[in-house]
Amino acid sequence: HHDKLALPVGTTLDRFIMRKQEDFPYATGELSQLLRDIALAAKIVNREINRSGLIDIAGAYGNRNVQGEDQQKLDVIANIRFIRALRNGGEVCTIISEEDEDVIQTGNTQGKYVVAIDPLDGSSNIDVNVSIGTIFSIYRRVSPTGSEGNSQDFLQPGTHQVAAGYVIYGSSTMMVYTTGNGVNGFTYEPSLGEFFLSHPNILTPKTGAVYSVNEGSSESFSQGVTEFVAYCKDNSFSARYIGSLVADFHRNLLKGGIYIYPPTAKAPNGKLRLMYECNPLAFIVEQAGGKASNGRQRTMEIEPRDMHERCPLFIGSPELVDKAEELLAKEH
Ligand code: AHG
Ligand code: MN
Ligand code: MN
Ligand code: MN
Repeated sequence: HHDKLALPVGTTLDRFIMRKQEDFPYATGELSQLLRDIALAAKIVNREINRSGLIDIAGAYGNRNVQGEDQQKLDVIANIRFIRALRNGGEVCTIISEEDEDVIQTGNTQGKYVVAIDPLDGSSNIDVNVSIGTIFSIYRRVSPTGSEGNSQDFLQPGTHQVAAGYVIYGSSTMMVYTTGNGVNGFTYEPSLGEFFLSHPNILTPKTGAVYSVNEGSSESFSQGVTEFVAYCKDNSFSARYIGSLVADFHRNLLKGGIYIYPPTAKAPNGKLRLMYECNPLAFIVEQAGGKASNGRQRTMEIEPRDMHERCPLFIGSPELVDKAEELLAKEH
């Protein structure tokens, strides 16, 4: 059996996926193929994003999605590209997407996997050239193959995820993911069309001095959240809020810090969606030694009831999430 040699920085994503699969002697390679299908779609979406100012795919699409948000053209394009890649890859029976009100049955009734996806995160930043992302979560179906996936399959708690990841289309494009054995980051080289291992075994700092929250809503923050924000200011934290969850999360993952989307007047359960924003990032951050909760309960233990349900999110360095939870617990 291969010694546990850490794969050298610079290995490609494809080789990494194949080599890691050897660590699972009974793996049949379907999850590996699924990760490759996602990486392919990411390359295609990356190219569309990089040219979005040049061809007529910027701006609003003219539809509202189930979230009540004005869909951007790239929201729709990314959604189509990822769904097509997952359908054609054959490994996925069912998909839930931020951009589709109803569950998507791919027709691959033999597919063993279900994917929850936010095809384009940070849509408000698309036309102003600020980093955006894609977030995905992968579950094994629990119902027998040969039929469409049902709510048992696509409403599983985050603890059942077999893999989760994100793509950040930023100053460089990266794919960061976990299959439950640590977190690894890959940087895309467009001239070669390959992702290369650039951030092996990512571990997030135990604490940090960055807090990310939209303080435009601070009038309606709860007492505990207000006290936590004051704690950050009393300790001279930096405020960093990009408005793209993936970008804020990625910076805090690498440098330490906490991202909060708390209950607000406009979003009483927070704005972020459990299945395709909170759970995948919760899996990643825990695998990197961090924490994620809704302020009281571990995010991955929340029992989903609706595929688009929202939940508050406190995520990042474990000591900062603990501090926030401590202050929320004191709320009467
Ligand atoms: P999406 O573009 O997928 O709908 O997600 C946007 C989310 C998240 O990316 C970001 O952190 C947050 O919305 C910003 O919300 P506010 O503008 O309310 O702060
Ligand atoms: Mn949206
Ligand atoms: Mn999002
Ligand atoms: Mn989105």
